[in-house]
Amino acid sequence: SQNCESESKEYLFKILVIGDLATGKTSFIRRYVHHLFNSHYRATIGVDFALKVVQWDPSTLIRLQLWDIAGQERFGSMTRVYYKDAVGALICFDASKSQSFEAVKKWKEDLDTKVTMPDGSPIPAVLVANKCDLPKHENFSDPSFLDDFCQNNGFVGWYFTSAKDNINIEETASLLISEVLGKV
Ligand code: GTP
Ligand code: MG
Repeated sequence: SQNCESESKEYLFKILVIGDLATGKTSFIRRYVHHLFNSHYRATIGVDFALKVVQWDPSTLIRLQLWDIAGQERFGSMTRVYYKDAVGALICFDASKSQSFEAVKKWKEDLDTKVTMPDGSPIPAVLVANKCDLPKHENFSDPSFLDDFCQNNGFVGWYFTSAKDNINIEETASLLISEVLGKV
């Protein structure tokens, strides 16, 4: 007789959520994991954790361990410790402003210099242009700008997202999961 269980696969993926202060990292995770949104801002201190279990397909179960890293940690000395053994990253900015986008490259450099896949390649990273429910800053009105940015800076792709209005949250996570699955 056939043993179906032997065909099923389970994974545990450590995923980093990084980007500058108040770009919506905690809100993204809260929406994705708990289906909630809070307009009140409370800065993350250090790092928070969340677990999301995804039945990717009938035979693939994925546990995502989401590391919600405080924006202020870019200026700290702990990111190397936080990044250890991560296999994917979401790098967030606020698409309604220009400022947090300038930090995206710095976060990506910090990431790539401190963690790689076991084979030495960069870990897959998706660019998250959050708060798309608000009017976009003019820099981001032409989508080819972010396409080119991703191409030139080693991102596997990007989405306009809204944690507030639940736009492209699942899509962003699925893109990252599929890229990670392609590397393990
Ligand atoms: P740090 O923990 O300080 O690094 O910030 P963070 O990136 O975790 O940001 P957080 O999720 O706390 O959100 C910051 C503020 O932006 C809060 O007031 C949120 O309610 C708001 N916010 C987050 N996502 C969205 C969104 O998609 N749309 C709008 N309009 N506001 C958002
Ligand atoms: Mg936070």
